[in-house]
Amino acid sequence: MVSRVIPVDVFDLVIFGATGDLARRKILPGLYRRFMAGQMPEDSRVIGAARADLTEAAFRDQVRAALTEFVATDHLDPAMVEAFLARLHYVPIDATGSTGWVELKGLVRPDVVRAFYFSVAPSLFGDIAQRLSEHQIADAWSRIVVEKPFGRDLVSAKALNAVLARHFAEAQIYRIDHYLGKETVQNLMAVRFANILFEPLWKAEYIDHVQITVAETVGVEGRGAYYDKSGAMRDMVQNHMMQLLCLIAMEPPYHFDPDAVRDEKLKVIRALKPVQAEDIVRGQYGAGKDGAGYVTHSENPASRTESYVALKAQISNWRWQGVPFYLRTGKRLRARASEIAITFKQPPHAIFDDAKGWHENVLVIRLQPNEGMNLMVMIKEPGPGGMRLMQVPLDMSFADALAEVAEDVPDAYERLIMDVIRGNQTLFMRGDEVEAAWAWTDPIIEGWEARGDKPQSYDPGSSGPEDALMLMHRDGRRWREIKE
Ligand code: BG6
Repeated sequence: MVSRVIPVDVFDLVIFGATGDLARRKILPGLYRRFMAGQMPEDSRVIGAARADLTEAAFRDQVRAALTEFVATDHLDPAMVEAFLARLHYVPIDATGSTGWVELKGLVRPDVVRAFYFSVAPSLFGDIAQRLSEHQIADAWSRIVVEKPFGRDLVSAKALNAVLARHFAEAQIYRIDHYLGKETVQNLMAVRFANILFEPLWKAEYIDHVQITVAETVGVEGRGAYYDKSGAMRDMVQNHMMQLLCLIAMEPPYHFDPDAVRDEKLKVIRALKPVQAEDIVRGQYGAGKDGAGYVTHSENPASRTESYVALKAQISNWRWQGVPFYLRTGKRLRARASEIAITFKQPPHAIFDDAKGWHENVLVIRLQPNEGMNLMVMIKEPGPGGMRLMQVPLDMSFADALAEVAEDVPDAYERLIMDVIRGNQTLFMRGDEVEAAWAWTDPIIEGWEARGDKPQSYDPGSSGPEDALMLMHRDGRRWREIKE
């Protein structure tokens, strides 16, 4: 089995902020990999635009260096790298002034798919959008791609939506949440809606609770200044974790179609109950062996920004009445491990006496690393001597099951960029979805700011703050172990 490469139309992709970190790490290496996979049609071009006064040759040198750093060596074919670089152009541009716009207009072709990636600070979205339309570089068929953070609260998100809406229709705006581009995240929809097996059990009657964990080993390092204004709630929960929760909790859409899927996600967000103060725990990692704690990287030595958050979310609708969704995410934890675990209830009546041996069925969807699914089921312990029960995993590691394909599974950015070129918005957030997510998040943040709450300190390399354990214990439940 070889992964299929679905052709896309010829395109011109303009990247604003082409010399920035995201472009170097993700966007340009992603495009190179698609080029290698044969998915970048002859004639398609990538146009870098940034403030730096670079020549095209200097820009290509920068991109060559970025590819060397961020693309796996076995994918770095020197001839292919040069062929890819030949597709690149560069325009020095002033997002808030007049430099470069006429040159950009001269470069972008009117008769191909035109996409504009805003890999810049959100404060520049309005200026760029305005200049693109004033200079008629973009038209009603062009697409724009914007990155998170999409606002820092409901008011700023609404303002950004309004600024973009002045020049572009919603159908042209692609708000990236790279979690939606992850293979296993999409698999969540395939598992739920392409099998008859799970959906009948997917409700309060059979599900005890859901745990969503996104644990990282990295700290904030060089991103202290950004992170201080953000914190885990804005950086991870409002967007990535919210999207995961939506895909687990949403009703089946009538079709795998952008608005059908997003309508269902929106209903979930709107049905989220406000989170009570006692249902949320914030943490901040302290100094480790290397002496670098969160505040080492922060501009404020007394920073109260959380690098960890755990909370209990509840959804007010028929399907999820009384089923808690426990969410936790944090930096500098003991392992990099992201998973969704759905714990089922007990059978209605126990016919075996081995109550001790009995464990709940758990469906674990592993996002990273080692993508896969695991269903914990009960069987009889082998051998004579009565009916003793034991729990075993029905394990499906995607790497094993899809051995040949897994190697060239595109990363999240590659997939999402190609979806932009195809004009498919299914895996992008709609403006109303982002606003609804902020409407739920804002009171949580306002609550702890008003109370003056300090995050609880936790040791780097641990599972997070002690209080997070209590969040589950007091409900008679336990977090799953964080391990790779
Ligand atoms: C980003 C956050 O959106 O996602 C980072 O800003 C975080 O703080 C990252 O580290 C996690 O992404 P991934 O794909 O490594 O799980």
